[in-house]
Amino acid sequence: MISKLDHLAWLGVDAIWLSPTFPSPNVDWGYDVSNYLEVHPDFGTLADLDALIAAARAREIEVWLDLVPNHTSDRHPWFTDRPEYYIWSDRIPNDWRSVFTGGTAWQYDARRHRYYLHQFTPRQPDLDWWNPDVRAEFEHILRFWFERGIAGFRIDVAHGLIKDAELRDGERFMREQPESHEIFRQWQSIAQEYDPKPTLMGETYVPLVRTFPFYAHLDLVQNFDFVRSRLDAAALRSIVERVEAKIPAKRDPLWFGSNHDHSRLATRWARGDERRARAALFLLLTLRGSAIIYQGDELALTDGEVPADRITDIAEPPRDPERTPLPWTRSGEEWQAPWLPLADTTRNVEEQRADPGSTLNYVRDLVARRRSFAGAPYRSLPSPRGVWAYARGDVTCAVNLTGKRVRHGGRVLEPWDAVID
Ligand code: NOJ
Repeated sequence: MISKLDHLAWLGVDAIWLSPTFPSPNVDWGYDVSNYLEVHPDFGTLADLDALIAAARAREIEVWLDLVPNHTSDRHPWFTDRPEYYIWSDRIPNDWRSVFTGGTAWQYDARRHRYYLHQFTPRQPDLDWWNPDVRAEFEHILRFWFERGIAGFRIDVAHGLIKDAELRDGERFMREQPESHEIFRQWQSIAQEYDPKPTLMGETYVPLVRTFPFYAHLDLVQNFDFVRSRLDAAALRSIVERVEAKIPAKRDPLWFGSNHDHSRLATRWARGDERRARAALFLLLTLRGSAIIYQGDELALTDGEVPADRITDIAEPPRDPERTPLPWTRSGEEWQAPWLPLADTTRNVEEQRADPGSTLNYVRDLVARRRSFAGAPYRSLPSPRGVWAYARGDVTCAVNLTGKRVRHGGRVLEPWDAVID
């Protein structure tokens, strides 16, 4: 990773969010943490991570980690030594279901003759965030990493930490309890002890209307209505307008079109068509706010083909296709026995860097250009059907989200073309 930082600096990246780096049995690929204060030996050591942070900082790039506070691995020592950190019941107390198994979210534990809660796999027991000792543990974890120079956290399952204290029937009681905001308020006050203040970004997997309370104490709130929308001007514009209308003045929106849980935008939105992928990237990088580019989006990389005998994920359908490795070269020789197959390498970093007309250079140019209107407000502008036009302060952006030529503002927009005036 350190050897690739120059490339990320060339691209104009401000921060890298790493998916979980902690020791883990990898039942859910790092989202089952067995030690929050160490580095998984497959990735290196704490000293290696320190070196990464320092080398990134030298290039003005921040390193953010992925904190997994909703649950631990069942191999975390807490699960044996501190059972009171988890949520137990003498019987299956309600109808809550596991996201992964679809069955009851309660698992019988033969050691304790009780059931424990797991929103995800049975090997990911949920922590009891009503317990002040759990809160103290995570405050310690935050400080540990902030001291080392970690500049931000993506907070896994930020909408689900606190469960209804009475364990009432109804999935809504398993998530989105208002007391979660108190936890984030406390984390924000810890972050404020550091300069520059680290960023807190929530994986707020809730419908758009219910994301707004999270802005109270999280700097960045992930928007899943956007990622799950069709690549359609009217549908996406309506999401953006709703965010712009309701977001608190002190916060900026956040946009992304792919992540490790969703089919890549070049497949899902663009069906492999590079012009469509560029239109989507144009939106991410010219709308007001921050943009997350998931590894490969910048190449218009599509989901990789993963044969059945190489599937590693527990989810159904498996998320392996969007997790295949980034092709740095056409030969792929840089990868030695990757966990997932290196799929098609026709879209690779080396060749796209050398080609001024590539999607990679398109993204790089947009990243440079967006800095000139970074703080400018968003305003929707009238436009023909299928075209989405908006002002960012003095700048006007227009994107044709159709496969047809369209006239707009005295010019012709080719299919999937986008312009900044
Ligand atoms: C959300 C993560 O993005 C996903 O990959 C994981 O499986 C679940 N949370 C459970 O931690």
